[in-house]
Amino acid sequence: MKPIPKLQKWDSTLDLLRDPYRFISRNCQSNHTDLFEARLLLQKTYCMRGQDAARIFYDPDLFCRAGAAPKAVMKTLFGQGGVQSLDEEDHRHRKQMFLSIMTPEKIERLNVLTEHQLSFALTRWKEMREVSLYEEFQRVLTIAVCDWAGVPLADSEVGQRTKQLTSLFNDATKIGLGHIRARLARRQANKWITDIIQQIRDKEISISTQSPAYTIAWHRDLKNELLEPQIAAVELLNLLRPVVAISVYMTLIAHALHFRPGCREKLQSNSDEYVKAFVQEVRRYYPFFPFTAAIVQTYFEWHGFEFPRGQRVLLDLYGTDHDSRIWKEPELFQPERFLIREPNLYELIPQGGGEYALNHRCPGEWITVSLMKLTAQFLTQKVRYQVRNRKLEINFSQMPALPRDDMRIHSVREIKSVPVTVSPSQSHGVRI
Ligand code: HEM
Repeated sequence: MKPIPKLQKWDSTLDLLRDPYRFISRNCQSNHTDLFEARLLLQKTYCMRGQDAARIFYDPDLFCRAGAAPKAVMKTLFGQGGVQSLDEEDHRHRKQMFLSIMTPEKIERLNVLTEHQLSFALTRWKEMREVSLYEEFQRVLTIAVCDWAGVPLADSEVGQRTKQLTSLFNDATKIGLGHIRARLARRQANKWITDIIQQIRDKEISISTQSPAYTIAWHRDLKNELLEPQIAAVELLNLLRPVVAISVYMTLIAHALHFRPGCREKLQSNSDEYVKAFVQEVRRYYPFFPFTAAIVQTYFEWHGFEFPRGQRVLLDLYGTDHDSRIWKEPELFQPERFLIREPNLYELIPQGGGEYALNHRCPGEWITVSLMKLTAQFLTQKVRYQVRNRKLEINFSQMPALPRDDMRIHSVREIKSVPVTVSPSQSHGVRI
């Protein structure tokens, strides 16, 4: 067996926090390897990147998730007892619940609700001196996703709930005050949604049997029992939180359009193929989640390296999306690359890889692409604006990585035209 290349530092956590998106690929490059060992959060950790690595990482016979995510992430971003930390039959059964919600009709409904909210927001933006797109998109998505999911939301609650749902992903990996904010938001959001689950079960609120909140509230586990209300709440928040997190990608779409006016022109031509290619390139090019974690379930060997049972492993998502063996000139933003060929299940992995039903790949990928297409068309066909020229470079030391001074726009005007319509991009098991 070959020894796994090992970083010299006693612990590399600070290096990882300083540059979370490029930590793995930089070390892979300097050690001429796709796999190395580092000490992270005081634990021996294997780090790997590339599509071959993704293929083994997403083999459920080799890796499991229970205990893989750091406690701080479980107490903020994920919540405890959710699908992310399940394995085998329990995971497949819970995952099926999520996949059953992702029908083309439901995705289309979320699109329509989001489009309405964008139109309302636009009316406000026209009167505002300056608009923070990131904050506005968070609000738009909070209202739309609560309506879609069947979660009642009074007008007076919108600000508070938007802040809570945003803090769950925006502050989750921060240290100090940011982390405390995320912990508090998690407690408040869990309580809010646990009460809603209870009210649905007690029939105190009547919601459509087709709504996602209904599906989750009445979901039964493999023992045919209802989920604990707190766990059902974590799962409902597993829909609300990430939909609001699409505000990050929506903001990055505005960033991409600002720096690439050629793309704006092509998007105005309204070719569905080009819109899709543009959105895929935003997901590939821009950072979101740097990596994902799993634990070796069964000893195995890969390319002459040993993976002992119990070993924690990180798969580099951002690095794989920028791997020059898969992507020609990966540091260039080129939507056209997606017009030429469709990536396989292990190449484009900003939301995880492998099969949806068997692996931990994100079940929200169809919704993400759909709402991003809507945003790209909205920003190019419905609205004109000027961008405040502040520090617009992406801050790679933050998760999620965004333009340093946000994307702020002014002089907003509406373009009167036909409504933006996008075709829903989902059908189970088919690539986006
Ligand atoms: C904002 C864009 C999004 C990004 C960047 C994203 C990213 C990810 C990533 C990286 C994973 C983990 C993959 C792994 O560990 O192998 C994941 C899992 C998950 N995502 Fe997303 N996601 C997004 C949107 C969504 C949406 C819109 C939903 C639901 C409506 C969603 C629900 C989930 C769930 C439930 C899981 C856990 C799946 C499992 O453990 O089997 N995500 N996502």
